[in-house]
Amino acid sequence: MSLPPRQRSRAFRMFTLCSVLLSWFPGSILSAVVTLDSIEIFKTHDWLPSKPTVYFQCKGENKTSLPDVKETHVSYAFKGEESWQPLTEFSNKKCKRCGFYEEDIIKSDEFDEWEFCPSDFSDPDGRYKHFKDKELNVTFLCPDCVPLGSDVSNHTTVSHNGEKGMHVALVITISAVISSLFIIGLLVAYKYWQKRKREQEHAQFLKLFEEGDEMEDELGLGPLSGVI
Ligand SMILES: *[C@@H]1O[C@H](CO)[C@@H](O)[C@H](O)[C@H]1NC(C)=O
Ligand SMILES: *[C@@H]1O[C@H](CO)[C@@H](O)[C@H](O)[C@H]1NC(C)=O
Repeated sequence: MSLPPRQRSRAFRMFTLCSVLLSWFPGSILSAVVTLDSIEIFKTHDWLPSKPTVYFQCKGENKTSLPDVKETHVSYAFKGEESWQPLTEFSNKKCKRCGFYEEDIIKSDEFDEWEFCPSDFSDPDGRYKHFKDKELNVTFLCPDCVPLGSDVSNHTTVSHNGEKGMHVALVITISAVISSLFIIGLLVAYKYWQKRKREQEHAQFLKLFEEGDEMEDELGLGPLSGVI
């Protein structure tokens, strides 16, 4: 099967477009784990002088207690492998409402609550610092969030990771299938259009022929009259 050059270039353009669109999808199917890198609290909210129980929570998710964080003005650093890690996970670009709180008998007190977004991890090392005056200073770590939050321009770095490489392969397969289907659809449409055109031309030709016959009949000329 061969396509005329114009159709061929259109099909190629569509193929390119499909591939580019699909290459954005790895970002949306990734799951990026967020761990706590360091935390320092500047005050406690208890009236009575007691050790605070600090926890992290995102809306709709479970609490993560930080058993080690007991003193104010002490910077606690973590390895990311502690039993209570990770803090949360991002499965797409959407932000979550999260915060650090202090457990209390009556009602939890808030250190800070904010919109926690994958795009916050704009540092190439995957770190994000969150600071609130007189309350806390936190550093989060999420290397997988960096390609999630940023643009397509960073996609060349994606294939370094095995898991992401698989996503890329999947995307290539999907785009190949979609483009093949699209090209087949285009071919079918083109063939149909060609057939329709041929039929129309044929009908027009027949009509012309009939009209010619009628005219000759009206003039009383037989088909052979010209010859005699
Ligand atoms: C949240 O906690 C409940 C009960 O402890 C547990 O069954 C569930 O798996 C937890 N969910 C997540 C996302 O960790
Ligand atoms: C917050 O903590 C980080 C890491 O411990 C530190 O580098 C930074 O200077 C701290 N910022 C403030 C304002 O305390």
